[in-house]
Amino acid sequence: MDLAKKFRNIEKSAQEEVKKARDFESLEKVWLKYLSRKGELARAMKQIKKVSPKERPRVGQVANRVKNNLTVFFEKAKLSIKKQMLTRSLRQEKVDITAPGERPKKGRLHPITQVQNEVIDIFRSMGFSVQEGPEVETDYYNFTALNIPTTHPAREMMDTFWIKGKKKRPEGRGILLRTHTSPVQIRTMKKFKWPLRVIAPGRCFRHEATDASHEATFYQIEGLMVGEDVTLAHLKGTFDYLVKRLFGPKTRIRLRPGYFPFVEPGFEMDITCQVCGGRGCSVCSQTGWVEIIPCGMVHPNVLRNAGYDPKKVTGFAFGMGLDRITMMKYGINDIRLFYKGDLRFLRQF
Ligand code: DAH
Repeated sequence: MDLAKKFRNIEKSAQEEVKKARDFESLEKVWLKYLSRKGELARAMKQIKKVSPKERPRVGQVANRVKNNLTVFFEKAKLSIKKQMLTRSLRQEKVDITAPGERPKKGRLHPITQVQNEVIDIFRSMGFSVQEGPEVETDYYNFTALNIPTTHPAREMMDTFWIKGKKKRPEGRGILLRTHTSPVQIRTMKKFKWPLRVIAPGRCFRHEATDASHEATFYQIEGLMVGEDVTLAHLKGTFDYLVKRLFGPKTRIRLRPGYFPFVEPGFEMDITCQVCGGRGCSVCSQTGWVEIIPCGMVHPNVLRNAGYDPKKVTGFAFGMGLDRITMMKYGINDIRLFYKGDLRFLRQF
């Protein structure tokens, strides 16, 4: 076959194959086939020397032209593939800035924490400061110093989680998970001089069977005010202000006698039922009142145990159950919901 024609054929079929290439990889293959050192064009070039001297310049010219043409053709194809790929990826990666966004998932505070913060704010506004005590307590702070000696029947009111040691600890020297926040009263009085106005929020533990209104762990806020001439009127005034801010201005309070070893006299403070507004319903057993805060005037023995002189100072104390207050505030009927970590429940607050 005429060599010049062969060059032209190479040019034609190379061009056709280049046109079909959609990406760099297939273009590269075509290039290897035709233009590389061992490609068809190079092989054909080698045959030029076999052509008669007369014909050689013409064939040589054709060969050069084909080579130049193809080189340019390849460069152009490369550019156009580059452009196509760019448009394709721009189309695919396009961001529709008008599309509605995805709402970021926000964390939130546990309902008990929210109510705790609310109560802390209210007491802060009355000049109370916040103290904390350990969850692992000694028998002394949890019981004895609070006027509950080892022989006292009140110890049985609180089923206690005791911490076991290698050796059995003597009676009255045990370590336990605090059953209430009241030990913080003693710790605070030992640490600071009177007058005092403090609250102590914290987690408590009791070895109890659980049901809708009992859990083995729960939260309290302890309160303590000590000074010269602190009276029951201070306690009532403080609570009146607290419940009106917490439950609304129509809420009223009343005190009933109650027994707690660390106060004398001791009370149960009731508020008007939030469900019926005081008219009487099933929640308040038709009385119009629900019990919310146990409290009283600090027992002289407790003041003495903490190093205060009961002849000089008096005080009031209370220990409110945060779980119960949160349940009442939001109409929750099972305390166990607070501790399950069920997001469907928690996301409602
Ligand atoms: N610590 C008691 C309890 O958990 C509650 C309590 C009652 C605390 C009367 C007080 C108080 O400070 O004065 O059952």
